[in-house]
Amino acid sequence: MDLPAIARLRADLAAAHFTQAALDGLWGPDAADALRRNERLPALRALAALRARTGEPGALATLAELFLLGGRVPESEVQAALPQLGADGAIALGLLWPASAELIAPERSLRALLELRPYEFTDSRGHASWWITSDLGELARGGPLGEDHVLGVGGASRTLSALMLQNAVDSALDLGTGCGIQAMHAARHAGRVVATDISQRALELAAFNAALNEIEGVEFRLGSLFEPVAGERFDHVISNPPFVITPRVEGVPSYEYRDGGMVGDALVETVMRDAAAHLTPGGVLQMLGNWEYTAAVPDAFDRLQGWLEPALDYWIVEREVQSATRYAETWIRDGGTRSGTREFDQLFGAWLDDFADRGVTQVGFGYVLLRLSDETPTMARLERLHTPLGDNEWGLGVHLGNCLAAHDWHAAQSDAEFAEACLTVSGDVTEERHYWPGNEDPSELLLRQGGGFARTISPGTALAALVGASDGSLSVGAIAGALAQLLEVDEAELRAELLGGARRLLDDGILLPPEA
Ligand SMILES: C[S@@+](CC[C@H](N)C(=O)[O-])C[C@H]1O[C@@H](n2cnc3c(N)ncnc32)[C@H](O)[C@@H]1O
Repeated sequence: MDLPAIARLRADLAAAHFTQAALDGLWGPDAADALRRNERLPALRALAALRARTGEPGALATLAELFLLGGRVPESEVQAALPQLGADGAIALGLLWPASAELIAPERSLRALLELRPYEFTDSRGHASWWITSDLGELARGGPLGEDHVLGVGGASRTLSALMLQNAVDSALDLGTGCGIQAMHAARHAGRVVATDISQRALELAAFNAALNEIEGVEFRLGSLFEPVAGERFDHVISNPPFVITPRVEGVPSYEYRDGGMVGDALVETVMRDAAAHLTPGGVLQMLGNWEYTAAVPDAFDRLQGWLEPALDYWIVEREVQSATRYAETWIRDGGTRSGTREFDQLFGAWLDDFADRGVTQVGFGYVLLRLSDETPTMARLERLHTPLGDNEWGLGVHLGNCLAAHDWHAAQSDAEFAEACLTVSGDVTEERHYWPGNEDPSELLLRQGGGFARTISPGTALAALVGASDGSLSVGAIAGALAQLLEVDEAELRAELLGGARRLLDDGILLPPEA
């Protein structure tokens, strides 16, 4: 890799203020919104208007036209936008190619071979902005993606990077790294990262992205699933694997970036089954996945549980479920095939046949967290949380990490020990009471979580009172005793009920353990 040339590119991008905020300012919110829907015309018109007003495009507009909109740009403008790297330097790096020669035009013009876009995020280590290269998307290509397409940062990438635990660890594995985005995030909390992919081109782009953003400590290995790390264990495994369910028939494209080549959800099953063999004790695997609901096993969670090694703690959250029909439509469109065309109908038919043949009725999507227990596993959570997430400034991963720590703390305590603990209610929790008109007593009492999964809980009078009294000064046992007297109920029964309830609220991040 030509590191000096990459450093020149970095300097040029920085000098041009090639950031998302600057781009949004360049073409305005409407065009930015249209781009998110893969429509580039409003952005192109905004750039043309800018050129008409100012007489020259400016470096930011040139970079945007080249790398985001797939435009053809005269060499002199490329040269002005990349003064340090130069047009020839960008060609040598494989970013641009001459789209026309001087022979037929007064000046040769250049086009992008790759997409290059700014990417920003905030995690517990602060705010950061990177530049990420990937293959040209549908918008810049002006047509469907190739089967060997290397994906840029998409919605699923952002979902996984946000839910990644951020505790410092020695080693991490990013399985199916693509453009390298998860490996780059993992390098912020892991001493060393191994990133794997079956696509050599993906690995090259990922290595380029790591170098462009001066991220060290990532090793790139070619191979399928866990093959490149046979016999190795990691503290943190992350994967946004190619989990999309695709019919295995002639004529249906198999995109490397989203389709692992197995039948149904077998790829997700394989990663989950093999996880334990690649985790250190206490190590965590986090992945995204799809799972099938079938006529034979109507609850997909029954299938998921069957894929888990007994030594694993697990926390699986289903975020969405789609009918088999809607799922097929979604992923055919995602491949760039427009509905209303003959090709769309052919693919649709193939998908529906596959689902019908295998008795698939619905497909779930969600987050999988598996942890290799060093003792007996204590966490077995399968949840359907289909509503929007709360406000997680540093990413959902911080919340998940806090919930795991709170769980481990209380799971290590007997009920007698736990009753002595003074808990506090989390700062993002509010209480909501509903009354029938004219009634003094609430007909419904809800606890709402502002962050995390934005849970709404109907705790019942006694548990709500325990939460209300949990300011860190009174123990769970003392509150339970006082409440039993107040409510005139059996103290032992109420205490047992409240200890169980408080443990569940710790698991959900609604109550917090005593500060260490
Ligand atoms: C959905 S993309 C995820 C890319 C990136 N990690 C992200 O989060 O945006 C899945 C990646 O897995 C790779 N892949 C496909 N089949 C694989 C396999 N059998 N083993 C390892 N990687 C595979 C694809 O080439 C692709 O880069």
